[in-house]
Amino acid sequence: MGEGYRGHCRRQPGRPRVGVRVLWPLVWLLVACTGFWASIAGATQTTVPDTPTLSAAEGQALAAKNQCLGCHQVDSRRVGPPFRAVARRYGGQRQAAQYLAQVMRRGSSGQWGAIPMPAQVRLSPQDARSLAQWILSLSQH
Ligand code: HEC
Repeated sequence: MGEGYRGHCRRQPGRPRVGVRVLWPLVWLLVACTGFWASIAGATQTTVPDTPTLSAAEGQALAAKNQCLGCHQVDSRRVGPPFRAVARRYGGQRQAAQYLAQVMRRGSSGQWGAIPMPAQVRLSPQDARSLAQWILSLSQH
């Protein structure tokens, strides 16, 4: 009976050698492809440079520098709507940052009430973009 028991332990399990041989090139292909797609994603990211979103203090400072705060505050209405209300209205819309950046430099009327916003002609496109992104980020805080 003892002999029979040891025999059971010595049994070699049959390994599917072919499966392993087919699998390795596939794994290699997968890794190669992932690298390929990652490099494409990296390339598209560098061709469309994204301005990093400003912190609360940085945004306030940039808004102050461009004379926005005389008419706007983050939370309360002055001459224009509070920035947080702007963020709530446009947040989640595609191209919202681009739209707002344009509106600042072009001026706006009829969106929030009777008082129009004069075109901010001295605002640079770069600052407009940063401000638009910052304003939109306000709905998340
Ligand atoms: C002279 C006052 C005044 C100044 C200065 C001003 N705004 Fe405005 N802003 C307004 C008013 C009034 C509105 C509402 C206009 C409307 O109803 O369409 C407005 C609207 C906006 C809107 C919403 C536009 C829309 O289409 O919904 C944004 C964004 C904005 N302002 C950003 C800015 C930024 C950034 C600055 C500084 C570069 C700035 N504003 C400077 C008065 C001002």
